[in-house]
Amino acid sequence: MATASVPWKSTFILRQGRRKPEPMKPKYHIQTYGCQMNVHDSERMAGMLEELGYEMTETAEQASLILLNTCAVREKPEHKLYSELGIFRKLKAQNPDLIIGVTGCMAQRDANEIRARVPEVDILLGPRNIHHLPRLVNQHKSTFTDKHGKSTFEPGLDLLSDPTPVTPVRRSSSVSAFVDIIFGCNFKCTYCAVPSARGREVSRNPQEVLDEIRQLNDLGYREITLLGQTVNAYGHDLEKLQDGARIDFAWLLEAINDINPRLRIRFTSPHPMYFNNRLLDTIAALPSVCEHLHLPLQSGDNDCLKRMKRTYTIEKYRGIIDNLREKIPGVAVTTDIIVGFCGETESEFANTLKACRDIRFDLAFMFAYSPRHSTVAGTWPDDVAAEIKSRRLNELIDLQNDISREINYQLAGNIFEVLVESISDKSDAWLFGRTRSNKMMLFEGDLKTYPVGSLVRVHAREALLRGFQGDAVEVASSPLPRRIMPLHVL
Ligand code: 5AD
Ligand code: SF4
Repeated sequence: MATASVPWKSTFILRQGRRKPEPMKPKYHIQTYGCQMNVHDSERMAGMLEELGYEMTETAEQASLILLNTCAVREKPEHKLYSELGIFRKLKAQNPDLIIGVTGCMAQRDANEIRARVPEVDILLGPRNIHHLPRLVNQHKSTFTDKHGKSTFEPGLDLLSDPTPVTPVRRSSSVSAFVDIIFGCNFKCTYCAVPSARGREVSRNPQEVLDEIRQLNDLGYREITLLGQTVNAYGHDLEKLQDGARIDFAWLLEAINDINPRLRIRFTSPHPMYFNNRLLDTIAALPSVCEHLHLPLQSGDNDCLKRMKRTYTIEKYRGIIDNLREKIPGVAVTTDIIVGFCGETESEFANTLKACRDIRFDLAFMFAYSPRHSTVAGTWPDDVAAEIKSRRLNELIDLQNDISREINYQLAGNIFEVLVESISDKSDAWLFGRTRSNKMMLFEGDLKTYPVGSLVRVHAREALLRGFQGDAVEVASSPLPRRIMPLHVL
């Protein structure tokens, strides 16, 4: 393991005839896989590294410190991890001072295997222990040793530790910000690796969450995405307020709305079990909460849902969506679905297709079941053959893509309020933004006319799978009153 200190290189730049030493900062490089929680964990790790004096680089070859922030939800990213580590161990062979860290869910679940397969890895850091990164970087390895040289403590892999300490954050957007509100998950879905990597639920202190959002609002952020593995379990573990009021997710939404009703509030991912009328009414009533719900369904069949231990039925799920659509006309609904779960029959799969046809999701993230160790289903036969999983997945994707296009086709012709996020990666002449319903909008224009963070009314000319191509109509000086969405038909 590398034990040398962080190399501070010096460079000499010739300026006005004088040689002036300019210290070159050591560079870090982070690769991120997986969900938005991981993306935000990377933002926090970047913030801590910059406070330590590092600066970011997009190229691993230039870095003194490389972090791979991993995901354990499916098998594919696992293969990617070891192929990337194969490249980084070669870099370390040329530069023994290079620090390599593996963070995220795989680091937590597979620390021993990673150590055995790639001994060049210096740091292992699970998602509950992000705040220990500076200590581990300064020490350059995961284990703290006692005076006899014995390993004593692995601060990066403590599944019982408090995950809530505040850390610096290097945000990747100046418009839209992620804010953690709850860590971990108390559900026991039989296919899911998350609880074994992120541990039990712990809600963040509400004042801390509200202070962070106040600061972001003061900095000019226009959109906040509240993060949690089961975001609407927020507050279940918190004490009541002094006036006896219960702190829950609905309470938090109201308190955020009070900071600035013109903010756009999103959240991911809620669990159907914790959707009650109070929460639905709150979402419907608050102007800041966007007209989009991402609610993972996983399967449209009750027997399959039971084996998955999802704790709801398809009827309960449909009830939530029907209620929501009644209260918020035009709301977009997106979901996650797994096909080929253990024991999934053709008729169970047909029920998932039927649920998608009936519910008509705006968009779905669809996956073939991937067995995970340390899960209940990981001990069951993975008995749906790979060809059948892939046939079912393709069938579902074809159906869902048709539905997504049809929905957007029906909405084309309307004017939407779009929050400008960036220049499109498709063309410099196009800008990229999102509607309140989280549809992507591409439209011709430049950042001088429509700066990042501005709200633009855009005519959706052409439907795409995930949104529209459109034409800017006018810049909105302030957000429009909610619920007039789409605004009107041309
Ligand atoms: N196999 C396939 N998909 C999975 N997901 C979670 N665990 C698995 C698994 N073992 C999917 C679920 C979840 C999304 C983030 O990933 O649909 O909502
Ligand atoms: Fe995994 Fe289920 Fe928890 Fe979601 S609710 S993180 S699927 S165990």
